[in-house]
Amino acid sequence: MIDLRSDTVTRPTPEMLHAMAEAETGDDVFGEDPTANTFEQKIAEMFGQEAGLFVPSGTMSNQLCVRVLAGPGDEIILDEKAHIFNYETGAAAALSGVQLRTVSGKNGMLSVEDAASAIRTKNDWDPITKVIALENTTNKGGGAWYKLDQIKALRSLADQHGLSLHLDGARIWNALEASGYSAEEVGKHFDTISVCFSKGLGSPVGSMMLGSRDQIIKARRFRKMFGGGMRQIGLLAAATDYAVENHRAFLKNDHAHALEIAGALERCDAFSINPEDVFTNIILFDTLEIDAVQVADAFREKGVAVSVFGPKTIRMVTHFQVSAAQIKQVVKLIDEWD
Ligand SMILES: Cc1ncc(COP(=O)(O)O)c(C=O)c1O
Repeated sequence: MIDLRSDTVTRPTPEMLHAMAEAETGDDVFGEDPTANTFEQKIAEMFGQEAGLFVPSGTMSNQLCVRVLAGPGDEIILDEKAHIFNYETGAAAALSGVQLRTVSGKNGMLSVEDAASAIRTKNDWDPITKVIALENTTNKGGGAWYKLDQIKALRSLADQHGLSLHLDGARIWNALEASGYSAEEVGKHFDTISVCFSKGLGSPVGSMMLGSRDQIIKARRFRKMFGGGMRQIGLLAAATDYAVENHRAFLKNDHAHALEIAGALERCDAFSINPEDVFTNIILFDTLEIDAVQVADAFREKGVAVSVFGPKTIRMVTHFQVSAAQIKQVVKLIDEWD
């Protein structure tokens, strides 16, 4: 099966397993795992932040940021396609008492005007706007990425209103690859960042919250409260560090592969896609004749797994464990679609 459901389906490579076997470990709940400590500092510095906290998932790192930046009655502005809003089980409300205020942006991204339109006035009866949260790249928005000018403009909007700026950077590595920006150039504009290593880079487990030293001290307590205090996580940090060092180089191919598939989809009468809306490794397209579920079943019968993303919408995601030859197979399959 050629698995294009997500870039999270990758399996650890022998080299990653070797890195795990060699890792020096300690009890991270006591702050004593040397591999995790070094890795957290390395990623924090890479993104121009003071400190980092290794966590099991992107959902946990986003929600730790929500918990640290806002509380009951506070509001966070984000795009209506945001992962924090759509796919995190209502955790902002459940765990932090925070209300999410969605705005309709473009490809899952907010402009300054979008965000500004949702900032509350300061009447007694208004929720208190605390945070603007961006996603880069956007998942439901089709892998789109923010230009630095957009980020800087949103930063200055946040500053004018005394708000924090959060980045859900689950696929920030793809954004960096596509834009050519350094991690620091992007990261330094945010108060908190969530980065994932289990999407695109191929780590078996792992995300990281980045922020100031004080924020990370607070987040360590909440991580324990949320059940995310882990022990000898040097094993995971070592595999993840290997992925950061060695797998970023594959992202370029993943993006080229996504465009190849998009080209085939554009040629096929059964589907609708604008290849200009393919920005990184995510391909979103519509089915014109039959429902997405039936199309996904037909792909599966022919050996390709895809995700149903709406009644007439399919998502494919390229990753480093789908080879160039397999991409050609997918293109051929679409070219011969009946
Ligand atoms: C943009 C975005 N943020 C956060 C997450 C959550 O990550 P996890 O599945 O590790 O909780 C995802 C997962 O796909 C995502 O796409």
